[in-house]
Amino acid sequence: MGSKRRDNWGSRLGVIMAVAGSAIGLGNFLRFPAKAASNGGGAFMIPYFISLLLLGIPLMWIEWTLGRYGGGFEHGTAPGIFHSVWQKNRFIKYFGVIGIFGPLVIFIYYTYIESWTLAYSVFSLAGKYVNLADQASMQGFLRGFQGLEHNQYFNGIGPAYLFFLLTFAVNTCVIYYGIKGGIERLCKWAMPLLFIFGLLLLFRVFTLGTPDSARPEWNILNGFGFLWNPDFSALKSAKVWLEAAGQIFFTLSVGIGVILTYASYLSKGDDVVLSGLTASSTNEMTEVILGGSIIIPAAFVFFGPVDIQSIARSGVFNLGFVTMPLVLNKLPLAQILGFIWFFLLFLAGITSSVSLAQPAVAFLEDEFDINRKKAVIIFGAVCFLLCQPAIFFLGNGVVDELDFWGGTFFLVLFATIETILFAWVFGMEKAWDEIHRGADMRVPRIYKFIIKYITPLFLLFILGMWLWQEWLPIIFMKNVSPQSKPFILGTRLGLLFIFVTLGVLVKIAWGRKRAQLERAR
Ligand code: PFF
Repeated sequence: MGSKRRDNWGSRLGVIMAVAGSAIGLGNFLRFPAKAASNGGGAFMIPYFISLLLLGIPLMWIEWTLGRYGGGFEHGTAPGIFHSVWQKNRFIKYFGVIGIFGPLVIFIYYTYIESWTLAYSVFSLAGKYVNLADQASMQGFLRGFQGLEHNQYFNGIGPAYLFFLLTFAVNTCVIYYGIKGGIERLCKWAMPLLFIFGLLLLFRVFTLGTPDSARPEWNILNGFGFLWNPDFSALKSAKVWLEAAGQIFFTLSVGIGVILTYASYLSKGDDVVLSGLTASSTNEMTEVILGGSIIIPAAFVFFGPVDIQSIARSGVFNLGFVTMPLVLNKLPLAQILGFIWFFLLFLAGITSSVSLAQPAVAFLEDEFDINRKKAVIIFGAVCFLLCQPAIFFLGNGVVDELDFWGGTFFLVLFATIETILFAWVFGMEKAWDEIHRGADMRVPRIYKFIIKYITPLFLLFILGMWLWQEWLPIIFMKNVSPQSKPFILGTRLGLLFIFVTLGVLVKIAWGRKRAQLERAR
């Protein structure tokens, strides 16, 4: 061991851009506005910011610190990192499997959705949907594209598949070039471009004014009012609090393992306190200011206070791929604006999806001593196969199922495990020193208390509440239609298979290492 040198980041700005790139994704521009609008508007920001302070920020610091610590032992993924923290425990490495499994599962569907944004940015420039002016036809366009129906716009899934291949190839290519040469290089130009595109759209939305003088109340100020006027009665619902916590996890990319992997490429003395905080703040600014100012206020101006209610609840895909194109179609330079919107989403998507791919690749490199090129080829081949059900069985709820397990269930479970490991097994005193190694600023002391008691209790509480209120019906497939049941069951068996396979790989890797150590003696 120790013969090969692990990859590393080229600069501090580079790693911050990469982590911010992972955090800023489709979640910021689609998921956040949809959640805020349907969960109390401005009032949603209360549980949202409480979750940010008590869960998001602490988890960010925990993951940056644990990742850097594990990297010192040449481990870039949770099995090895957890094992380094708790060497006496033989089982803890298997809990770490979630940190490879979760990102892999999200990657499978996230990349497919990301490919739609690339496709739509091309369609927009080519004027393929510019004449569509109502919900029904735009919806038909989307369903035709997704292969859910044959219609006048599309007669098969061919174009969607082509864009998927392209997106998949670009992702694999970035990973192939490594941390500094691929991911960091991508994020360094994609992130500034993303901000420029976001600001352009923000400016366009702010200057919408009152497009229809016959309906003066359909104006942009009321559009912002719709999203931000607080409905405090929403705070009485446990669901609103859970949704806010879920959004914080998803948007910051914490609780899943990708930050562990990114941080493992830091050096021992690199600051994590300020860097972690900077990456999180960049994400929050983008989410609340850009994400919260584009889609919902713009849709309000054109659809009015009544229809916006159902639009906000119509789900993330509808908002992004149906409502927003319709809104932009009503403006001058519609084709360019449409391109800017979808390419913005594509940039946000790709800088997130590469972070989801990296843990699996790092696992093969670190634990099996495979070189990066070979690791990427294995990852690419396996992942390509795994993506197929998400593409072809989209209509049967496969994507939602993957999102539940990868993007919700295991996320909270993993966050709980790593927090307890950090604060209680590693020990808060040692953890506090480790956080501050090379740090450019001190973490406020209150966080010692928060990380030790509040974060784990909050997580256990959420885990329990979710199980009780929402997960039991999902786990027992209460709301699944009979014709979708076999697909959901198939997806679950597939996920179980992936999980067990990863567990077996961990066992094999540790067995090999033990044998190597014994031979060396
Ligand atoms: N944070 C990303 C978003 O907001 O779209 C999604 C994501 C990326 C979640 C990476 C989890 C992750 F590990």
